[in-house]
Amino acid sequence: MANGKFIIGNWKMNGDFAHKDLVKSIMVATEGKLSDNLKVGICPPFPYISYFKDVLEQSGVNLGAQDCHFNEKGAHTGDVSISMLKEVGCDIVIVGHSERRANHFENDEIVCAKANAVLSKGLIPIICVGETDEQRKSGKAIEIVLGQVSNSCPKESPNIVIAYEPVWAIGTGNVASPQDIEEMHLAIRERLISMFGAAGEGVQILYGGSVNAANAKEILAIANVDGALVGGASLKASDFATIIESA
Ligand code: PGA
Repeated sequence: MANGKFIIGNWKMNGDFAHKDLVKSIMVATEGKLSDNLKVGICPPFPYISYFKDVLEQSGVNLGAQDCHFNEKGAHTGDVSISMLKEVGCDIVIVGHSERRANHFENDEIVCAKANAVLSKGLIPIICVGETDEQRKSGKAIEIVLGQVSNSCPKESPNIVIAYEPVWAIGTGNVASPQDIEEMHLAIRERLISMFGAAGEGVQILYGGSVNAANAKEILAIANVDGALVGGASLKASDFATIIESA
């Protein structure tokens, strides 16, 4: 049975209060269309989450954060806990994005601790994995990504979403080929089934990395691609609407 599609906008360190217009246009684009077959979410920077929660009201659009700490509270200057994110209305949290793995030295162990913390509060972790250009060129892409899946995902619960994002495809305009996407998503699917049994079939696997209005339809039609994690194109109302439409 095919999983529904999940389209998530990762705003990264972009956006301001004026992006209310973008949020409103996402609400228009999704009105009457959201169901188990189509979910749409946005992940703005921390300071705006609460504000956009009010804008989204009962729209059914998921609201998320781009990171979190794995501890509940304490001396962690600059960090944000899952309880805080839950209180301001988040239901999804991105963990292990390659920009955090690279710039904040987050390894699989930290990503797994974050994903566990997200699950423990009843939110859904969007767990990012992906190989670098060097790793792909050396023929190690599948091995690297499957290692990340095994070590970054909590073992106990399949209530997770995976985002496969080749590092070299993020923000570059270079999309992985349909063959490479299909091969990787199948490998991830098989790994999830070996971890979670039949429940691994139901884990959504998103593709991310230069998804845009022009290529979304082709990417979303590939086997085992259950949605997209969209960076740059999620900040343009018409492009994001087209991507949602393509799902
Ligand atoms: P991009 O970013 O769509 O701008 O390539 C995707 C991501 O980093 O999640």
